[in-house]
Amino acid sequence: MKTANPQLNEHGELIHLLSIEGLSRDILHAILDRAAPFTAVAEREVKKVPLLRGKSVFNLFFENSTRTRTTFEIAAKRLSADVINLNINTSSAAKGESLLDTVDNLAAMQADMFVVRHAASGAPYLIAQHLAATGRNHIHVVNAGDGRHSHPTQGLLDMYTIRHYKRDFTQLTVAVVGDILHSRVARSQLHALSTLGVPEIRLVGPQTLLPTYAAQMIENAPLRVCHDISEGLRGADVVMTLRLQNERMNGALLPSTQEYFKSYGLTPEKLALAKPDAIVMHPGPMNRGVEIDSSVADGCQAVILPQVTFGIAVRMAVMSMLAGTSGAGQ
Ligand code: CP
Repeated sequence: MKTANPQLNEHGELIHLLSIEGLSRDILHAILDRAAPFTAVAEREVKKVPLLRGKSVFNLFFENSTRTRTTFEIAAKRLSADVINLNINTSSAAKGESLLDTVDNLAAMQADMFVVRHAASGAPYLIAQHLAATGRNHIHVVNAGDGRHSHPTQGLLDMYTIRHYKRDFTQLTVAVVGDILHSRVARSQLHALSTLGVPEIRLVGPQTLLPTYAAQMIENAPLRVCHDISEGLRGADVVMTLRLQNERMNGALLPSTQEYFKSYGLTPEKLALAKPDAIVMHPGPMNRGVEIDSSVADGCQAVILPQVTFGIAVRMAVMSMLAGTSGAGQ
């Protein structure tokens, strides 16, 4: 039986971007392909295209952000949209107005797209369901990170970065290192890597941040759990480091950050176990001296700042793709 996917319309086109889970390889490649020409827009004197002219994009960030909120704003402006950044701390949400009442009021201001970050897993789904139930399917929802669940545009920009430097997903060994348990970025990366055909994905971290059931996290994905970082990094083409998500941890899961760095912090010595041309990625924000040494973060194998730049083109691709579709979710 076919599972309903609220992200797709009756023609299988993307109407919301809520998660990478459930998206086909063709859709992922279509987004990455669409992003490529947008990187060239940044080189032009006038960095704008009219694809979202007359549309209103509302950024609703109920959690802090530097990269995601700003690059969504740049992306929407480069697509010629009007961008409204709701300051949650000074909005009526701070007086107790509910998420859906906030959404209803912004929809009444003729919003065309909501970009949503929320500490609660599923908040963007709730908004998309509410819009569908109230006959406002023409308003698109983009998940900019929900709880531990998903951060799909981060996963997509990571895939864009890998494809830029390594070309062929089907020949790669990718090591994802760190706090996988609490990471929405990791979940999005793992769905994307496995859908795009990466044959070996290593999950590297301590038992407390990477339980043994992690190997079964995604059905049929080529996941391998490594608690020993040397085993995890040996021969890898791509090393993706993750931040310790202290704000999502209940109680101490690690003896100390110093011990974590000693065992799992990415140093030049540990990186030397990966392939000589391996790239080092990090979604940011980085904790230097905790999950990554500064000499690696600023070193010649790091592609951490290009990830941020590619994020603009990928978000332009997603928003322009959504704006070109309509219809009810499946
Ligand atoms: N990668 C990421 O989501 O960074 P921000 O929290 O700064 O948006």
